[in-house]
Amino acid sequence: MTAHDIAELNQRVGIPGTVTIGRGADEQVWVEVTNRLAEAKIALQGAHLLAWAPHGMAPVIWLSEQAKFAAGKAIRGGVPICWPWFGPHPTAASLPAHGFARTAPWDLHTSASLPNGATYLSFRLMHTAQSHPQWPGVAELELRVIIGQALEMELVTRNPGPQPLVISAALHTYFAVSDVRRVQLRGLDGCEYLDQVSGEVLQQVGPVTIDGEVDRIYLDSTADCLLDDPGLQRRIRIRKRGSRTTVVWNPWIAKAAKLGDVGPEGYLRMLCVETTNAAHDVVTVAAGSAHHLWASYAVEALN
Ligand code: BG6
Repeated sequence: MTAHDIAELNQRVGIPGTVTIGRGADEQVWVEVTNRLAEAKIALQGAHLLAWAPHGMAPVIWLSEQAKFAAGKAIRGGVPICWPWFGPHPTAASLPAHGFARTAPWDLHTSASLPNGATYLSFRLMHTAQSHPQWPGVAELELRVIIGQALEMELVTRNPGPQPLVISAALHTYFAVSDVRRVQLRGLDGCEYLDQVSGEVLQQVGPVTIDGEVDRIYLDSTADCLLDDPGLQRRIRIRKRGSRTTVVWNPWIAKAAKLGDVGPEGYLRMLCVETTNAAHDVVTVAAGSAHHLWASYAVEALN
C-alpha cells in the first residue's frame, strides 16, 4: 500500500481524532482507534486486532514482545481470525494452520462513531477460487468490530455462490493475564473436551487452571466464560453466539520455545480462550445465507 493509498483510506473511512490509518515499521498498515471509552489497534493484514483496553485499564489483549510483522506471516498474540479452517487443514498438512484469512490483506470498509462513544469498524475480505486455489468456493467475509467499554467482534461468512460452504473458524483471542498459574477460567464446568495434548476425551470439573501445556477443544460450550485474574484484580467476561466450541490454549515452556515468537516468559502472561467453530461444530453455510460468529469481552471487578 502506497502513502497515497493510505491517504485515500483516511479520507474515505478515517474519523479525525478517532480512527487513523497509518503505516509503522515493517510496512504494516495499522488502524488506530481512540475514543472517549477505549483504545485499540488493528492490522489490516488479517484484520488482526493487536490491542484493546478501556482507558485507565491494563492491556486486555496480549501481544508477544517478539511478534513478527511481515507480509504473509502470522502474528503471535492479539486476535487472529482463523478461517476457513481451524487448526491443521483436515486433509492437506502442507496448508497453513488456521487457514489463510489471518495473513490475507483485508480492506477497511466502514467506520462510524456510535452514540454511546464507541467506534464501529467493518473489515472485508473477498475470497474466490482464484485468490486461494486450495480452498475452492466463493465467500464474502466481514469482520465487524465495536471498540468501547467492551470489545465486540463478529465474523460474518456470507455465501453468495450456488454451493454450500463448509467452514471451521475462530476468534483466537490471546488474553493478557498477570500470571497464568494464578488465573481461573470459569464457565466450562461439566463440558467434555478433546485434549489435544493427550489425545483423550475428558470432562472438565470445576474451573480450568493452568500448570502445564493446555490445548483443549471444549464441546457444547455456549455459556459465558469468566477469566478471573487475582493479580490484576479483574475478571474478563467472554460472551458468544454462533459457536458451540471453546478452545483453551497455553503452550507452556517447551512448545513456546519451539514456536520461537512467544518471548521468554510470554507463556506466563497469556491465555487463549477462543470462540470457535471447531471439531463437531463445523458449519455449513447454505447458498445465499450467512454464518455469524460473535464474541464480546468486558472487564469486571473481581470481588
Ligand atoms: C490453538 C490450537 O488454537 O492455536 C493449538 O488449538 C495451536 O493447537 C495454537 O498450537 C497456535 O497456533 P499457531 O498456528 O498460531 O501457532
